[in-house]
Amino acid sequence: MGRQFDVGEQFRFIGRTFEEYTRMFGLAPTALAGTTILDCPGGPGSFTAIAAQRADRTLAVDPMYGRPVGELATVCADAVERTVAQLHEKRDLFVWDEYGDVATRGRYLRAAAQRFLADYARHPGRYVRAALPRLPFATDSVDRVLSGSLLFLYDDRLSERFHVEALLELARIAREDVRVFPLHSLDGERSESLSPVVDTLRDAGLSVRLEPVDYEFQPGATEMLVVGDTDGYGGSERKRENARTGVPREAR
Ligand SMILES: C[S@@+](CC[C@H](N)C(=O)[O-])C[C@H]1O[C@@H](n2cnc3c(N)ncnc32)[C@H](O)[C@@H]1O
Repeated sequence: MGRQFDVGEQFRFIGRTFEEYTRMFGLAPTALAGTTILDCPGGPGSFTAIAAQRADRTLAVDPMYGRPVGELATVCADAVERTVAQLHEKRDLFVWDEYGDVATRGRYLRAAAQRFLADYARHPGRYVRAALPRLPFATDSVDRVLSGSLLFLYDDRLSERFHVEALLELARIAREDVRVFPLHSLDGERSESLSPVVDTLRDAGLSVRLEPVDYEFQPGATEMLVVGDTDGYGGSERKRENARTGVPREAR
């Protein structure tokens, strides 16, 4: 049995709950008031639906959005069942303090999807069909971006160049910061892309730091990446230029 968690399809359409997100991204629910938050990729997660009750505005982006709700429900149900089956086989690859057992992890996935599907049907304007590394949002148009379970996790199919372009794009859109979790890949090790990507972002003038979070599922994956001070590295024009070219000015 492999030491890797296998995702046969290109990307798995499963989502986390609001509560998991608050711990994965070190967010105090009370601190959401008065803010605008973008979740990219949102997947079938419930953060956007529930945070909408506290924040000024919440938006989610995913290339799967825009399809009929019934189609997303089918894709997601299938993805959840495949994930749960594989967790039964590979439960020793994970830390179970969070969920206790595989059945509970399955319940979280289904609860997140159910809440997402109801909100997607009711508030389609919150769910934007788009794909990194280019997003249809203005520079500095949200306070914070959350990016979970795409970058670094799928580093076997997303290049370092893609990571840099995607993070420059997210930093362009965020006034305050971009938070990314996890930093481990599907093989359960810290992503080899992390260090070179961080170096390139720092070369671009961004402040980048790792911060501990109160969540652990992949063993040792207990830090998030915070790309911060997104206003402090040369202003909006510099942000737009770096995101447009995908290459920091210093590296050209
Ligand atoms: C494992 S899910 C993560 C969802 C959510 N962030 C979470 O942590 O629960 C990965 C998501 O990334 C989406 N995705 C794939 N390629 C993408 C891209 N280029 N830009 C944005 N999202 C993408 C997939 O459609 C899928 O919904």
